[in-house]
This record gives sequence, structure tokens and C-alpha cells, in this order.
Amino acid sequence: MLNEAASFLETLFSHITDAILIVDYQGEVIGVNPAFERLSGWSAEEVLGQKSLCDLCRGMATCQEESSCIECFASRLKTPSFQMHLQTKQGAELPVAASSTRLPEEAGGMGALVVILRDNSEMQRIERERHQRQLTNYVIQAQEEERKRISRDLHDGIGQALYSIMVGLRVVNQIEMDDATKHHLEEVQHLTARTLEEVKSLSVELRPSALDDLGLVAALRSYAKRFEQTFGIVTTLEIAGQRRRYDSSVETALYRICQEAMTNAAKYADTDGISLRFVDEVDRVELHIEDTGVGFDPTQLKVRGTGLGLYGMRERVSLLGGTLKIESAPGEGTAVHVVVPLEEKGGPRYGHPIADRG
Ligand SMILES: Nc1ncnc2c1ncn2[C@@H]1O[C@H](COP(=O)(O)OP(=O)(O)OP(=O)(O)O)[C@@H](O)[C@H]1O
Ligand SMILES: [Mg+2]
Repeated sequence: MLNEAASFLETLFSHITDAILIVDYQGEVIGVNPAFERLSGWSAEEVLGQKSLCDLCRGMATCQEESSCIECFASRLKTPSFQMHLQTKQGAELPVAASSTRLPEEAGGMGALVVILRDNSEMQRIERERHQRQLTNYVIQAQEEERKRISRDLHDGIGQALYSIMVGLRVVNQIEMDDATKHHLEEVQHLTARTLEEVKSLSVELRPSALDDLGLVAALRSYAKRFEQTFGIVTTLEIAGQRRRYDSSVETALYRICQEAMTNAAKYADTDGISLRFVDEVDRVELHIEDTGVGFDPTQLKVRGTGLGLYGMRERVSLLGGTLKIESAPGEGTAVHVVVPLEEKGGPRYGHPIADRG
């Protein structure tokens, strides 16, 4: 019976997935299981009677400083959960989740300390990525809201004021005046009209009201038209599938991606043609932007601006749980393909929980 229990415990010790490290009351290693060997890279022969706890522990999360080792878990009867930095054979300091219990002396083993270790680096990596994504989302949201505010201020504030000035100048122009004054006044009128146009286009560039009022497809249409007029690049837009509104986070992201890809084409592609294709496939939307320009090698970027454009496009797509593919090669044009999986109501299916507030 006793033998059976011992053999059961032996099996448990060698098969359990958590690493177990046992040190005696002097801190010398007296037992490790196979999971410990896998986790640390040390074999049992290399540590049993060869190493002490201090050789393997490079600090606790709460006492990384050497002086804090006075607070070491080994001096306590029980430390339910802490983070330990395990010195691996490969020379790394692996952060692992740990707990420790000192066995009572009467249980044999002369008050041995049992330390259970679990590799949580993957969990930490996932948590770090989640945190990073959350931050990116906040930054993108804040930037979008700031753009919206400035765009509205430009349109409703400066834009309206300029319009009033133009009306006023028109009234003044009705008054009898000499030719030189009239000529001067007309110049001021033209300058005011041009400035008003610039303010309007700046406001639209920052955040087109069509995107909020009429939706993505309408905003893409007017962007393509403006783009063609501004750069003289023939732009075709094809819309396929059903028409509907999407979550504001989806509409904003796709519009910004299109804007960036087309601006890149205008700046670098040296092309006279761009085609845009937007497809609604019910459970996903797709956006394809293709130019017939000089192309580039996406694996060896020669960044000519600040280099944030492609990065921003990827970030926006990944926040929505979608994919972005860039196909380009020197002399072969560039194609940007975006796919965003959607849920029924037009929101991102795998998107980040914090949605763009629109
Ligand atoms: N359609 C394109 N045709 C040719 N080259 C391109 C095209 N799109 C991107 N590139 C190349 O890829 C580089 C990186 O593009 P990205 O948009 O990331 O940065 P950028 O445009 O240089 O700067 P930013 O977008 O921050 O103003 C560009 O500098 C350019 O060399
Ligand atoms: Mg760019």
C-alpha cells in the first residue's frame, strides 16, 4: 500500500507539467522534476548537490534589488504566489510564476523548501501585446477625434468667417469707385475665395463630413474624385455587394487606409492610373487599391517620408482583426489588399473591444 502511494507520487512528480524544485534547509538543490529540466535547460545531474537556490534564482518580482533578498521567499513558511527570475542554462533570466512551501521537519526532508514554477512568458507576451494594442487604439481614437474637431472648427469657424467676408466684399464692390480701387478690391475678393477653398479642402482632408453623415462608400467616392482632380491620376472606383453602413471604427480605418495608400501612389508610384475596388461580402469587407506605377520591394523598404504610413495601415487593420497584404515589386506597380471580417451589424467580428466613438 505504502509502495503504491510512493510510486503514485513518483509518477506525479515526473509527469506534472509544472516545474518542481526542492531545496534543503541550507538552500542546496536536492530535487528537480523533468518539467524543471525542460524549463531551465539544466539536467538533474547538473543541479542536484551542485547548485543552490541562489544560483538559480535571479530575484523575485517584488525584490529584484539584491538588498531585498532579505525578503526572500525561502525565509518564509509559505509564499502562495510571486514571480521569480529563473537563471536558465542558456544564460537567460526567465520570468516564471512561482509558489513555495516549506515542509514541516517532522514530514522528513528536514524542512525542505518546495518551489513550484510555471513558465508564464507566453501569457506575459500576450498581455503585453494586448496592452500595446489598447494603447494604439486610444492613440488612433484621440487622433481621429482631434482631426474631427479641427476639421469642424475650420469649416464652421474660419470657413464661415471667410464666407461672410466674401459677401461683404461683394456688397462693397457695388459701390462707385475708381478703377485702381476696384481692381485692388477684386484681387482681395479672389484671394478670399481661394483661401476659403483651401480651408474647405483642408477641413475635408482632415475628416470628411461625408464619412460620418453618408458613410464609407460615399466618402470613398468623393475622395476618389478629389484625388483625380488634385493629382491628375485617372482613378476608377468599383463598388460590389450590398450597400450599408458599418461600424464607425471600420469606416474610419478603411477610409484612412485608402487615403494613405493613394497618397503613397501619388507621391512615389509615378503612375497615371489607380483602381479602387470595395467589396461587401456580408461577413467581411474588402478594399483593394492598385496602381500601375514603379512599385517597390516591400521586404527592403527605402522609406522616403516618415515611414509611418504602411505601419499605421497595418495597425488599423490588426485592431479590427483583419488582414493587410501588400503586393509590389520594382516595375510592377503596387496592390494593397485589405480584408476585415464583419459581424452582422457591420461591426468588426474580431475587433478590439474599444470601438472608435465616431
Ligand atoms: N504605391 C507605391 N509605389 C511606390 N513606392 C511606394 C508605394 N507605397 C509605398 N512606397 C514606398 O514605401 C515606403 C514606405 O511607405 P510609408 O507610407 O510607410 O512611408 P512614407 O510614405 O515614406 O511616409 P509617411 O507615410 O509616414 O508620410 C515609401 O517611402 C516608398 O518608398
Ligand atoms: Mg506614406
